[in-house]
Amino acid sequence: MNKRLFSAFLSACCLASVSAVMPDAEIDSRVSDLLGRMTLDEKIGQLNQLSGYGYAPDMVGRIRSGAVGSLLNETDPEVVNQLQREAVENSRLGIPLIFARDVIHGFKTIFPIPLGQAASWNPDIVREGARIAADEASSVGIRWTFSPMVDISRDARWGRIAESFGEDPVLSAKLGVAMVEGYQGDDLASPNAMAACAKHFAGYGASESGKDYNTTWIPETLLRDVYLRPFKELVKAGSATFMCSFNDINGVPSSGNRVLLEDILRGEWGYDGMMVSDWGSIEQMIPHGYSADLRQAASQAVNAGVDMDMESHAYTGHLRHLVESGEVSEARVDSLVRNVLTLKYRLGLFENPYVDMASSRRFYAPSSLDAARRAVEESAILLKNTGTLPLNNSKVKKIAVIGPMADAQHDQAGTWVFDLEKERSVTPLTALQQMYGKENVIYAPGLEHTRDLDTKGFANAVKAARKADVVLFFAGEEAVLSGEAHCRADLSLPGAQSRLLAELKNVGKPVVMIVQAGRQLAIMPESEMADAVVYCFHGGTMTGPALANLLSGEANFSGRCPVSFPRMSGQEPLYYNHKNTGRPASGITLINDIETEAGQTSTGCTSYFLDAGDGAFYPFGYGLSYTTFEYGEPVLSATSIAPDGSLKVSCTVTNTGNREGAEVAQLYIRDHVASLVRPVRELRDFAKITLKPGESRTLEFTITPADLEFHVNGAQTVVEPGEFSVWIAPNAAEGTPAKFTVVKPNDLAAK
Ligand code: BGC
Repeated sequence: MNKRLFSAFLSACCLASVSAVMPDAEIDSRVSDLLGRMTLDEKIGQLNQLSGYGYAPDMVGRIRSGAVGSLLNETDPEVVNQLQREAVENSRLGIPLIFARDVIHGFKTIFPIPLGQAASWNPDIVREGARIAADEASSVGIRWTFSPMVDISRDARWGRIAESFGEDPVLSAKLGVAMVEGYQGDDLASPNAMAACAKHFAGYGASESGKDYNTTWIPETLLRDVYLRPFKELVKAGSATFMCSFNDINGVPSSGNRVLLEDILRGEWGYDGMMVSDWGSIEQMIPHGYSADLRQAASQAVNAGVDMDMESHAYTGHLRHLVESGEVSEARVDSLVRNVLTLKYRLGLFENPYVDMASSRRFYAPSSLDAARRAVEESAILLKNTGTLPLNNSKVKKIAVIGPMADAQHDQAGTWVFDLEKERSVTPLTALQQMYGKENVIYAPGLEHTRDLDTKGFANAVKAARKADVVLFFAGEEAVLSGEAHCRADLSLPGAQSRLLAELKNVGKPVVMIVQAGRQLAIMPESEMADAVVYCFHGGTMTGPALANLLSGEANFSGRCPVSFPRMSGQEPLYYNHKNTGRPASGITLINDIETEAGQTSTGCTSYFLDAGDGAFYPFGYGLSYTTFEYGEPVLSATSIAPDGSLKVSCTVTNTGNREGAEVAQLYIRDHVASLVRPVRELRDFAKITLKPGESRTLEFTITPADLEFHVNGAQTVVEPGEFSVWIAPNAAEGTPAKFTVVKPNDLAAK
C-alpha cells in the first residue's frame, strides 16, 4: 500500500479520531508541573507495572493510593474502565493508567506469526496487520503492545525465533518499522493507536545454543553491525517504548546495562521514549549473579535507565529507601517518571482515558479477515514443485487431506496468542471442503497431533490416499513447540509424521507436503519424499482459505525464506551472512563417500560437515512461484567511488512464465578485503514487484556509505577502500555479482 492509500486507510480506521497531537513543549511543561506536585511514593507508583486480575479490592486500593502506573493483561473493556476511573477520579492526582498487552500478531483476528510475516518480505502487509491489531486491541482499552520484537535470530532452536523477523538485520528493520507505523499510526493520541515497544533490547536472539534466557557473548562490532541495527531504525521510526531483555551480554544483564540503555540508546541515538523491564527481569539479576538482593537490583536498574518495573516489585519495595539513603538521587527517579508521564500524554490518556463502550470490541471486520488471508498468501513459501502444484482441477477430482495440522484450529494460530477464539480459525480442511465440495475431500488425519507417535491412524490415511488423485499432507509443529521457553534441540518433524509421509509416498500418488510451524525445521528427508513442499509459518485465523487459494492456483506464491533452512539440526546457528573462513567449503566429500581407512586429510580439509555438507538446504531469500523470473546483468552507475560516495545499481527482472507473479529482488553487497573480515554477503535492500507474463521492469537501488560501512571501535564506522561485489538476486545463494571499488579520494581525483 502506498503512503497515500495507507493514510486513507488509517483515517477510515480512526473511528474516534478526536485527538490533536500535543506539542512536545506543552507535554514537557505539563509533565514538569505534575512532577512538582508528586510525592516520592506517587512517583515510584508511576514506575510500577502489575499484571491485572480484575476489579479486586486490593488492586483498587493500590490504584487509589497512586501505587500503580500501568497494568498488563486486563482485557475486559468494562473492567478497564472501572480501574481507570479509580485512577482518574479517585486517586489524588488523577493520573491515568496505561493498559498493556502482548498483541504480537493480532488481537482477535490473528495474522501469521512475525516470522511468517517476514516471509512476505512486504512492509505493507506488516503495517496493515499491525494497524488492524491496534484497532481491535484498543477497542478494549489496550493502548500499549509489547511488539515488535526485532531480535536477530540466527538459531532455529530458539523458540522465540517465531516472534522475530528472522536472521537478517535489514529485513528485520524494515518490517519492524512498518509494524511500529501500523500500531502507532499518524497520531499516537488517537484512541485507536497503540504505543509500540521495540524489544528485547538487546542481543536476546543470540542466546547460546538457542536455549531461551541463555547467556550471550557478542563482540561490540557484531552487536552494532547486526543486533542493534534494527533497534536503531526503530528509534528513528518513533517507537514510543522499548523493553530491555532478559539475557546478559558479555556478563552484564540488560536490566542493569547502563552502556546499552543510557549511553547508546539515549546518548548516541537520541531516544526519548520509555523503557520497560521484561517480566521480572530486574529481580532476575539476582540469579544471574549480578545483584546480591532485590534492593541492589532496583538500584542497578534505576541507574541503568529502566523506567518501568514489570512485575519485579523492586521499585515499590526498595526505591524509597534507596533515595532516603542517598544511593539513588530523587532527580534520577524524576527522570524515569518523566518518561512514563510523557508517554501517557503522548497517548492522549489525560484527555481520553476511557474506552468508548459504544464502539468497543471491534473484532473480525470482513476487511480485517481479508487482510489476514492476504497476509498468509504472501507469507507461504513454495519450496519445491515438480509440477504437482497448482492442483490441476481437470485431473484432480478427489483430494486426500491428511496430517495433524490439517484441521488444527488452535495450533495454526501459532505462539503468543493470548486472546484466541479458536472457533474463528478457518482450517485448510474446512477451506478445501468449501472449495472442492465435501464429497471430494477425504479426510484422514493419520496422527492426532504433531508429537503423536501412535500409528493406529496410518491405515485409514493410506486408504484415503489410495482413493484420491492427490495427497495433501499437512505436517508441522503445534503452537506450543515454539515461543518463549519452548526451544528444541532437535529440529526434525516431531512424532511419527515422517513415517506417515513415507507410507503415503508408497501409495504412489503425488504428495504435497504443507508444513505449518513456528520455526524453520530440518525437513530435508521429507522434502526429498514429497513432490511439492509448501512452508507456512503458523498463519493464524485465515490459514485455511489462503492455503486453499495457493494450492488450487487461485493465488500465486510470493513468500521467500526469512531464514536459512538447515539440512540437519547440528548446523545451527546457521545464517547466510557468515564469514568465509580461511578454508571455505569446497570439494565436499560426504560421510558415506569416504573410503574405509582413508587418510585424515583425504576429504580436503575445508569448512563443512561430513554429514550435512555446507550451507542451507533452502537458502535465505529463496522461494518459488507458479511463474518464473529472469534477472539481467546488474548495471552500475560507477565502478569507483570515494568512501563517502554513492552509486546506483540497476537490473532488469522479467516474468518469463505464463502467469502473473510477484518476485522479491534482493540487493546484496560484499566487502572483499577489510581490516575486520566481512560476511560473504549482506542484504542491503529489496523490492517486491508484481509482473505480468512477459513483463520486464528495471529496478534501481542506490548504495550509500551506510550500506558499505561497518563498526570498528564503539560507535565509529568506516568505509574502507577496496573491492566490493554487488548482487541483485532472487536469494542469498544465487545471482551474478558486479564489482566496484571504493578508492581513496585522491586516487579517485587522479582517475
Ligand atoms: C516476555 C516479553 C513479554 C512479557 C509480558 C515476557 O515473558 O519475554 O516478551 O512482553 O513477558 O508478557
